[in-house]
Amino acid sequence: MTHVSCARQMLSFIDKSPTCYQAVANLAAELRECGFVELSEAQEWRLVPGGAYFVTRNQSSLAAFRLPESGTSSEGESAAALGVAGFQIAAAHSDSPSLKIKSNPELPFGGDYVRLNVERYGGLLLKPWFDRPLSVAGRVLVRTSFGVESRLVDLRRNVAMIPSLAVHMDRSANEGHKVSVQDEMVPLVGMGDAAGSLAKQVAEAAGAEPADVLGSDLFLYNSQQGCVWGLEEEFVSSRQLDDLQCAWSLVQALKDARPAAGRAAVCAVFDNEEVGSGTKQGADSGFLSDVLARIAGGRDELPRLLANSFLVSADNAHGVHPNYAGKADPTNRVVLNGGVVVKESANQRYTTDAVSRSVFALICEAAGVPVQTFANHADIPGGSTLGNIASSHVAVNAVDIGLPQLAMHSPYETAGVKDTWYLVEAMGAFYRTAVTMLADGSFRVSA
Ligand code: CO
Repeated sequence: MTHVSCARQMLSFIDKSPTCYQAVANLAAELRECGFVELSEAQEWRLVPGGAYFVTRNQSSLAAFRLPESGTSSEGESAAALGVAGFQIAAAHSDSPSLKIKSNPELPFGGDYVRLNVERYGGLLLKPWFDRPLSVAGRVLVRTSFGVESRLVDLRRNVAMIPSLAVHMDRSANEGHKVSVQDEMVPLVGMGDAAGSLAKQVAEAAGAEPADVLGSDLFLYNSQQGCVWGLEEEFVSSRQLDDLQCAWSLVQALKDARPAAGRAAVCAVFDNEEVGSGTKQGADSGFLSDVLARIAGGRDELPRLLANSFLVSADNAHGVHPNYAGKADPTNRVVLNGGVVVKESANQRYTTDAVSRSVFALICEAAGVPVQTFANHADIPGGSTLGNIASSHVAVNAVDIGLPQLAMHSPYETAGVKDTWYLVEAMGAFYRTAVTMLADGSFRVSA
């Protein structure tokens, strides 16, 4: 596979994954196709050495793992029997900033127009949402004979637009204008006679009667497809590059992973990173530690295994913007197509420390993948991510990484065409590696 075909595969995954629900469903489908067995949190797990498994929570988070081949039990009940002495864990997130459609969404304008009442999900960049065709996707809960059932919906058509106010009516429009989400970001979806149409179309997409739709989690999304562009095809642009570019790459690496002896290869994709991770399916939940404890054969076994484990938290990073170079750190700025980014922050908003960056650098060096370092400009606080949140539940050596991008949290973000491939390669090498803590506190990093 070339880096361009890798980038195109990543873009086609995002094109069919307009919300976290479709993203997790599509990742699960890819894993199933590769022989991964789906587990349920509500049931007992019967794991075997060499087995590959995944489990989802809330349809919006996913944890997948591949066990090492060697083990002593055909139906292992403990980590020892499964041959697991540690974990190689990679994590990313499934959600992206967006506009969520509220309940009772129709906002009529006399009898002339129908508009939608929405609210922000996460820290989205507001202005790029104006003047572009939008569609609607998410999940709806449908009444059944036994209770309720969740169904994914994606209208896949241009159904909404948030038109700007003409510059003639706001001469200060180009001098900075504070946007009111409640008053100004009210998408137009039809003329007055379209009242009731959204509910009907969503119900139809779910194969249900409107009266049987009891609840929904619906979002607007940019319906423009992702593309490769540039004079020499250097760039990719798409919605949701943060963080589906990383989530997809980790899963590709796991699909082909051949774990090192004694190591389970684990990939977690969490929902709700963009709103602080504090949900039952977010990185600030027990989801990952629950999964690891079940592989380990119990909570008591976990600390010993975690001492020989390593976590890579993968969430996109800010590339230096050539038009705003003063926003970047003078010596730790990263460029698109420059390879995987290691993120550092003294106050540990990123988990990277000297140990974890060194271990990760060795792994990337062996894989032939270039590594760049990102640090925030000291006067600009920057963002945070799921690494430090996840590692507060699973205490392991951890490194925060990402792929360099521009326009983070815009509905159309830009990244480098080569970097997806670099991450897939780096994570393939990561999953073949075992990181072992030795008695003197040094680390063996071996394939
Ligand atoms: Co992110």
